[in-house]
Amino acid sequence: MYILVAADHHHQAHPRILVRMKSPIIFIFSLLLSSCYAAVQDFCVADFTAPESPTGYACKKPATVTVDDFVFSGLGIAGNTSNLIKAAVTPAFAAQFPALNGLGISLVRLDLALDGVVPFHTHPGGSEVLIVEKGTICAGFVSSANTVYFQTLEKGDIMVFPQGLLHFQFNSGRILAEAYASFSSASPGLQILDYALFGNDLPTELVAATTFLDTAQIKKLKGILGGTG
Ligand SMILES: *[C@@H]1O[C@H](CO)[C@@H](O)[C@H](O)[C@H]1NC(C)=O
Repeated sequence: MYILVAADHHHQAHPRILVRMKSPIIFIFSLLLSSCYAAVQDFCVADFTAPESPTGYACKKPATVTVDDFVFSGLGIAGNTSNLIKAAVTPAFAAQFPALNGLGISLVRLDLALDGVVPFHTHPGGSEVLIVEKGTICAGFVSSANTVYFQTLEKGDIMVFPQGLLHFQFNSGRILAEAYASFSSASPGLQILDYALFGNDLPTELVAATTFLDTAQIKKLKGILGGTG
Protein backbone atom coordinates (compact mmCIF):
# COMPACT_ATOMS: atom_id res chain seq x y z
CA MET A 1 0.00 0.00 0.00
CA TYR A 2 1.41 3.36 -1.00
CA ILE A 3 -1.60 5.51 -0.16
CA LEU A 4 -2.86 5.44 3.38
CA VAL A 5 -5.86 7.27 4.72
CA ALA A 6 -5.43 8.31 8.34
CA ALA A 7 -7.95 9.89 10.63
CA ASP A 8 -6.92 13.25 12.07
CA HIS A 9 -7.76 13.15 15.76
CA HIS A 10 -8.50 16.85 15.89
CA HIS A 11 -10.62 16.98 12.74
CA GLN A 12 -12.36 13.63 12.46
CA ALA A 13 -14.48 14.76 9.52
CA HIS A 14 -11.45 15.51 7.34
CA PRO A 15 -9.26 12.42 6.99
CA ARG A 16 -5.77 13.24 5.83
CA ILE A 17 -4.20 11.40 2.96
CA LEU A 18 -0.65 10.33 3.67
CA VAL A 19 1.46 9.39 0.71
CA ARG A 20 4.56 7.30 1.24
CA MET A 21 6.89 7.29 -1.71
CA LYS A 22 8.79 4.06 -2.15
CA SER A 23 9.37 4.42 -5.85
CA PRO A 24 8.35 7.43 -8.00
CA ILE A 25 7.13 5.17 -10.81
CA ILE A 26 4.84 3.14 -8.59
CA PHE A 27 3.66 6.39 -6.99
CA ILE A 28 2.65 7.86 -10.37
CA PHE A 29 0.97 4.59 -11.34
CA SER A 30 -1.07 4.61 -8.18
CA LEU A 31 -2.06 8.25 -8.79
CA LEU A 32 -3.29 7.31 -12.29
CA LEU A 33 -5.27 4.45 -10.83
CA SER A 34 -6.84 6.64 -8.18
CA SER A 35 -7.75 9.32 -10.75
CA CYS A 36 -9.82 6.72 -12.60
CA TYR A 37 -12.00 6.38 -9.55
CA ALA A 38 -12.16 10.14 -8.86
CA ALA A 39 -13.10 11.28 -12.39
CA VAL A 40 -14.32 14.89 -12.46
CA GLN A 41 -17.76 15.38 -13.97
CA ASP A 42 -17.06 17.99 -16.66
CA PHE A 43 -20.68 18.73 -17.49
CA CYS A 44 -24.25 17.67 -16.81
CA VAL A 45 -26.20 18.15 -20.02
CA ALA A 46 -29.90 18.23 -19.13
CA ASP A 47 -31.87 15.03 -19.54
CA PHE A 48 -35.35 16.32 -20.36
CA THR A 49 -36.94 12.88 -19.91
CA ALA A 50 -36.72 13.35 -16.13
CA PRO A 51 -38.43 16.21 -14.25
CA GLU A 52 -36.48 19.33 -13.24
CA SER A 53 -35.54 19.58 -9.56
CA PRO A 54 -34.57 22.68 -7.54
CA THR A 55 -30.94 21.92 -8.36
CA GLY A 56 -31.59 21.48 -12.08
CA TYR A 57 -32.12 18.57 -14.44
CA ALA A 58 -30.66 15.07 -14.25
CA CYS A 59 -27.60 14.46 -16.47
CA LYS A 60 -27.71 12.81 -19.88
CA LYS A 61 -25.35 9.82 -20.11
CA PRO A 62 -22.02 11.31 -21.28
CA ALA A 63 -21.86 8.78 -24.14
CA THR A 64 -25.04 10.29 -25.64
CA VAL A 65 -23.81 13.90 -25.44
CA THR A 66 -22.79 15.52 -28.75
CA VAL A 67 -21.42 18.92 -29.74
CA ASP A 68 -24.96 19.98 -30.65
CA ASP A 69 -25.77 19.97 -26.93
CA PHE A 70 -23.15 22.72 -26.46
CA VAL A 71 -24.40 24.97 -29.28
CA PHE A 72 -27.61 26.99 -29.28
CA SER A 73 -28.80 28.70 -32.45
CA GLY A 74 -31.72 31.06 -32.30
CA LEU A 75 -30.57 34.38 -30.88
CA GLY A 76 -29.61 35.59 -34.37
CA ILE A 77 -33.13 36.58 -35.37
CA ALA A 78 -35.44 39.10 -33.74
CA GLY A 79 -38.30 37.72 -31.64
CA ASN A 80 -41.92 38.48 -32.57
CA THR A 81 -42.89 41.77 -30.91
CA SER A 82 -46.51 41.78 -32.20
CA ASN A 83 -47.96 41.54 -28.71
CA LEU A 84 -49.36 43.67 -25.91
CA ILE A 85 -45.96 44.72 -24.57
CA LYS A 86 -44.37 45.09 -28.04
CA ALA A 87 -41.43 43.10 -26.76
CA ALA A 88 -39.93 39.68 -27.29
CA VAL A 89 -37.64 37.77 -24.96
CA THR A 90 -35.92 34.81 -26.60
CA PRO A 91 -34.39 32.66 -23.85
CA ALA A 92 -31.40 30.37 -23.95
CA PHE A 93 -31.98 28.96 -20.48
CA ALA A 94 -31.28 25.33 -19.51
CA ALA A 95 -34.78 24.41 -20.72
CA GLN A 96 -33.83 25.52 -24.26
CA PHE A 97 -30.05 24.96 -24.10
CA PRO A 98 -29.49 21.72 -22.14
CA ALA A 99 -25.70 22.06 -21.76
CA LEU A 100 -26.23 25.06 -19.44
CA ASN A 101 -27.68 22.73 -16.80
CA GLY A 102 -25.59 22.99 -13.64
CA LEU A 103 -23.27 25.70 -14.99
CA GLY A 104 -25.01 28.68 -13.38
CA ILE A 105 -25.12 30.82 -16.54
CA SER A 106 -27.59 31.62 -19.34
CA LEU A 107 -28.52 34.23 -21.95
CA VAL A 108 -31.54 35.87 -23.53
CA ARG A 109 -32.09 38.11 -26.52
CA LEU A 110 -34.43 41.07 -26.00
CA ASP A 111 -36.19 42.87 -28.84
CA LEU A 112 -38.25 45.98 -28.18
CA ALA A 113 -40.42 47.52 -30.91
CA LEU A 114 -41.25 51.25 -30.69
CA ASP A 115 -42.72 51.86 -27.21
CA GLY A 116 -42.01 48.22 -26.37
CA VAL A 117 -41.51 47.37 -22.70
CA VAL A 118 -40.62 44.47 -20.47
CA PRO A 119 -42.87 45.56 -17.57
CA PHE A 120 -41.70 45.33 -13.95
CA HIS A 121 -40.50 41.75 -13.43
CA THR A 122 -38.09 39.67 -11.38
CA HIS A 123 -35.82 36.71 -11.97
CA PRO A 124 -36.01 34.87 -8.64
CA GLY A 125 -33.04 32.65 -9.48
CA GLY A 126 -30.29 34.98 -10.66
CA SER A 127 -28.76 38.39 -11.26
CA GLU A 128 -28.86 39.87 -14.77
CA VAL A 129 -26.35 41.81 -16.85
CA LEU A 130 -27.91 43.58 -19.87
CA ILE A 131 -25.94 44.94 -22.83
CA VAL A 132 -27.61 47.15 -25.44
CA GLU A 133 -26.76 46.24 -29.05
CA LYS A 134 -29.12 48.62 -30.93
CA GLY A 135 -31.32 51.55 -30.06
CA THR A 136 -31.99 53.21 -26.73
CA ILE A 137 -33.37 51.49 -23.65
CA CYS A 138 -34.49 53.12 -20.42
CA ALA A 139 -33.89 50.48 -17.76
CA GLY A 140 -34.11 50.46 -14.01
CA PHE A 141 -34.71 48.53 -10.83
CA VAL A 142 -36.09 49.15 -7.35
CA SER A 143 -34.08 48.08 -4.33
CA SER A 144 -35.54 46.49 -1.20
CA ALA A 145 -35.24 49.95 0.37
CA ASN A 146 -37.48 51.26 -2.46
CA THR A 147 -34.68 53.31 -4.00
CA VAL A 148 -35.04 53.48 -7.78
CA TYR A 149 -31.98 53.19 -10.00
CA PHE A 150 -32.73 53.94 -13.66
CA GLN A 151 -30.77 55.11 -16.64
CA THR A 152 -31.04 55.57 -20.40
CA LEU A 153 -28.75 53.06 -22.07
CA GLU A 154 -27.23 53.32 -25.56
CA LYS A 155 -25.36 50.77 -27.69
CA GLY A 156 -22.58 49.16 -25.69
CA ASP A 157 -23.92 50.24 -22.31
CA ILE A 158 -24.28 47.52 -19.69
CA MET A 159 -26.54 47.55 -16.65
CA VAL A 160 -26.78 45.00 -13.87
CA PHE A 161 -30.01 44.02 -12.10
CA PRO A 162 -29.31 42.30 -8.77
CA GLN A 163 -31.03 38.98 -8.11
CA GLY A 164 -34.71 39.04 -7.24
CA LEU A 165 -35.25 42.80 -7.55
CA LEU A 166 -38.09 44.25 -9.64
CA HIS A 167 -36.78 45.84 -12.83
CA PHE A 168 -37.94 46.99 -16.27
CA GLN A 169 -36.68 47.80 -19.76
CA PHE A 170 -38.46 50.30 -22.00
CA ASN A 171 -37.64 51.35 -25.58
CA SER A 172 -37.24 55.10 -25.13
CA GLY A 173 -35.69 55.65 -28.57
CA ARG A 174 -37.03 56.15 -32.08
CA ILE A 175 -35.85 52.85 -33.57
CA LEU A 176 -36.20 49.19 -32.64
CA ALA A 177 -34.01 48.23 -29.72
CA GLU A 178 -32.01 45.03 -29.38
CA ALA A 179 -30.21 43.84 -26.28
CA TYR A 180 -28.76 40.69 -24.77
CA ALA A 181 -28.77 39.71 -21.13
CA SER A 182 -26.82 37.08 -19.26
CA PHE A 183 -27.79 35.55 -15.93
CA SER A 184 -25.99 34.01 -12.98
CA SER A 185 -28.26 30.97 -13.24
CA ALA A 186 -29.09 28.38 -15.89
CA SER A 187 -32.77 28.79 -14.94
CA PRO A 188 -33.19 32.34 -13.57
CA GLY A 189 -36.99 32.27 -13.93
CA LEU A 190 -39.21 35.19 -14.91
CA GLN A 191 -42.21 36.63 -13.09
CA ILE A 192 -43.89 39.71 -14.55
CA LEU A 193 -45.59 41.83 -11.88
CA ASP A 194 -48.66 42.87 -13.91
CA TYR A 195 -49.37 39.28 -14.90
CA ALA A 196 -48.87 38.13 -11.32
CA LEU A 197 -51.41 40.72 -10.13
CA PHE A 198 -53.97 40.73 -12.95
CA GLY A 199 -53.33 37.72 -15.20
CA ASN A 200 -54.83 35.12 -12.88
CA ASP A 201 -58.11 34.18 -11.18
CA LEU A 202 -57.54 35.76 -7.76
CA PRO A 203 -60.92 37.42 -6.95
CA THR A 204 -61.02 41.14 -7.72
CA GLU A 205 -61.96 41.95 -4.09
CA LEU A 206 -58.80 40.19 -2.89
CA VAL A 207 -56.64 41.98 -5.47
CA ALA A 208 -58.21 45.26 -4.30
CA ALA A 209 -57.63 44.41 -0.64
CA THR A 210 -53.98 43.50 -1.24
CA THR A 211 -53.04 46.28 -3.67
CA PHE A 212 -55.24 49.29 -2.65
CA LEU A 213 -56.29 49.62 -6.33
CA ASP A 214 -59.85 50.43 -7.51
CA THR A 215 -61.92 47.42 -8.53
CA ALA A 216 -62.73 49.08 -11.88
CA GLN A 217 -59.03 49.38 -12.70
CA ILE A 218 -58.42 45.79 -11.59
CA LYS A 219 -61.25 44.46 -13.76
CA LYS A 220 -59.92 46.43 -16.73
CA LEU A 221 -56.40 45.03 -16.29
CA LYS A 222 -57.73 41.49 -15.74
CA GLY A 223 -59.54 41.89 -19.08
CA ILE A 224 -56.35 43.01 -20.85
CA LEU A 225 -54.01 40.46 -19.24
CA GLY A 226 -56.27 37.42 -19.36
CA GLY A 227 -57.28 37.26 -15.71
CA THR A 228 -60.72 36.32 -14.40
CA GLY A 229 -62.58 36.88 -11.12
C1 LIG B 1 -46.20 37.37 -34.63
O1 LIG B 1 -47.20 37.18 -33.66
C2 LIG B 1 -48.51 37.55 -34.11
C3 LIG B 1 -49.44 37.46 -32.90
O2 LIG B 1 -49.33 36.22 -32.28
C4 LIG B 1 -48.91 36.63 -35.25
O3 LIG B 1 -50.19 36.99 -35.71
C5 LIG B 1 -47.88 36.77 -36.39
O4 LIG B 1 -48.17 35.85 -37.41
C6 LIG B 1 -46.48 36.52 -35.88
N1 LIG B 1 -45.52 36.86 -36.90
C7 LIG B 1 -44.58 36.02 -37.27
C8 LIG B 1 -43.66 36.52 -38.33
O5 LIG B 1 -44.45 34.91 -36.79
